[in-house]
Amino acid sequence: MLENLNSIREEAISMIKESASLKDCEDIRVAMLGKKGRVTEILKNMKKLPPEEKKVLGKEANILKKEIEEKINRKKLELASEEKEKRLKEETIDVTEPAPELKIGAKHLITQVIDEVLGIFTDMGYEIVEGPLVDTVFNVFDGLNSPANHPSRDMTDTFYISKDNVLRPHTSSVEIRTLMSREAPFKIVSPGRCFRCDTPDATHSPMFHQIEGMIVDEGITMAHLKGTLDHMAKKLFGSETRTKFRPHHFPFTEPSAEMDVSCFKCGGKGCSMCKGSGWIEILGCGMTHPNVHGVGEVDTEKFTGFAFGMGVERIAMLKYGIDDIRYFYENDMRFIEQFK
Ligand code: DAH
Repeated sequence: MLENLNSIREEAISMIKESASLKDCEDIRVAMLGKKGRVTEILKNMKKLPPEEKKVLGKEANILKKEIEEKINRKKLELASEEKEKRLKEETIDVTEPAPELKIGAKHLITQVIDEVLGIFTDMGYEIVEGPLVDTVFNVFDGLNSPANHPSRDMTDTFYISKDNVLRPHTSSVEIRTLMSREAPFKIVSPGRCFRCDTPDATHSPMFHQIEGMIVDEGITMAHLKGTLDHMAKKLFGSETRTKFRPHHFPFTEPSAEMDVSCFKCGGKGCSMCKGSGWIEILGCGMTHPNVHGVGEVDTEKFTGFAFGMGVERIAMLKYGIDDIRYFYENDMRFIEQFK
């Protein structure tokens, strides 16, 4: 039996020496020390031997087991480091190779303009709220005091999803949502996409963006409306900008107005940008109609308010001299990259 151990030792040592991979090492370990390995078998068969022999053989077999284990582990470490060396030699990095150009993203011009306008209002304490793109006919028309026969309700102007739901044609629906979900006083601004059945051309798109604003509080007058929107215009177009309010009609406000800003290209003298008038229309506004406040059960004896809505594309086009609205949606990098 002892001789047997010696021949196993020699065999194992030469196998380990010749092994060329981690897998070879593992195979040797299984063949010698695994459940049915040769050293294991000897340890198992020992039970039958007389105690004296068992003692000697057991000791020797365990020494051999340890020895083989150690040799295999050492070989494994050697092989692993050889493999690493080899890999490091093969995998060279060419540090002179030009790196791929890194393109850093930026906000789309529409998002930049929205952020700028929202910033002007949040600085004045307005809260930003958002509404869904699909809204009810009530929220986009009836709640806003729009007469049942108003032309904007027409299928040719508004995208109907069903009899009672539409793709919102303006952000004014958020006024109704806010009035129904909050108690006065409040002041909010709400940006987002709107949709109308318009054929695309240089100034029309079936999808566009608006920013809505609304304040409901005690003692709000037309003077607050003018002061607030004049402040916005100066921030947006420069401190020399003057504003002018022209009477207009909207079902949801009384009185209603459109606000013009003095042309920031010619300063008001008249040029191609303002079509010679010196003024550019940028938004609709007015004192919110009591019928609209009524939807939110606002105490109309106590509270008044104003609201406004403006087209984001129009403002971006004026501010950056863009002559076709379709550029915004074509994702042509040559256009987009100009406004990083
Ligand atoms: N909703 C109007 C539009 O889409 C814009 C507007 C005008 C909003 C007057 C208002 C407002 O809140 O008071 O043309």
